Amino acid sequence: MADYRFPGEWVKDNMVLEPSITGETINQVESLEMTEDDILIASYPKTGTTWAQELIWLLNNNADMKKALSVPVYERIPYVEYKSDGVHSNLEMLLKTQRPYMMKTHLPSDIFQKQIKAGKVKIIVIIRNPKDTLVSLYHFYRMHGGLGNFQGSWNDFFELYKTKHLIYGDYFEWYASWLEYKDKSNIKLLKYEDMHHRMSDVIDDLLQFLGKSLSEDSIADIIKHLTFDSMSSNDMVNYKRFSVFDMNVASFMRKGIIGDWKNYFSDEQSAVVDKSYKDTFDPLGVRLEFE
Ligand code: A3P
Repeated sequence: MADYRFPGEWVKDNMVLEPSITGETINQVESLEMTEDDILIASYPKTGTTWAQELIWLLNNNADMKKALSVPVYERIPYVEYKSDGVHSNLEMLLKTQRPYMMKTHLPSDIFQKQIKAGKVKIIVIIRNPKDTLVSLYHFYRMHGGLGNFQGSWNDFFELYKTKHLIYGDYFEWYASWLEYKDKSNIKLLKYEDMHHRMSDVIDDLLQFLGKSLSEDSIADIIKHLTFDSMSSNDMVNYKRFSVFDMNVASFMRKGIIGDWKNYFSDEQSAVVDKSYKDTFDPLGVRLEFE
């Protein structure tokens, strides 16, 4: 769409970010000291980050439902490079709280080279198949005032993807940056589709990674708490309090399914993504589910 102007600034290389994320904040994130008890959740936008955040927070906090139902997830796990009030970075607020820190980022691994090299902080990288991610991001662009309430069609949006003009850069370049480290012992890859199909296995695996254990009853409570319907009606995770999101256009908790991409992608668009998927993920041995 020729007249769509992204409201953000070009911060680093080819990466476009929202106006409330500045180079200064990114420099602060880059130099943050992290310990082995800290947890960093890294994801490309719209890959099920909020769902994963809620799960990981509960596993790491002894299934504390009382707190989960009274403190918003974005306060329990701040979006570290963001300035929620437009002035103070979430990082500054996080530094005033007690360790261990739990943070979420959408930045590529380039920014975290220091922490990756130190090999301490536990990093959980969330991934979702690229086609459903792009459809979800399209609706996010439409409903998000911070992204200029995109008015274009799906085809217009796909052009932004093809020309690498989406926030946080190209999906495949973003994952190539993180997946390079996926076999390190302090890094875990968490797939959105696994949370759909194999939640119990995902929980066992994450508990082991985090060095935690929970009773069967607590695990059953968590699984119930994390269903799409339960999360959609939970104001601590559904972002209904964010006036910058126009939920009349699309909900944050929109559909929560695998395979919605089939309602949007042309064969040609599908082939474009399939090629990048093969080129990027085959050499890394990463397989994702598309239905
Ligand atoms: P859709 O737009 O496809 O519905 P993020 O938190 O990274 O922004 O990701 C948002 C996506 O995760 C949305 O996808 C949302 O519906 C989905 N999601 C959130 N909670 C979910 C849940 N409990 N079950 C399934 N999908 C969920």
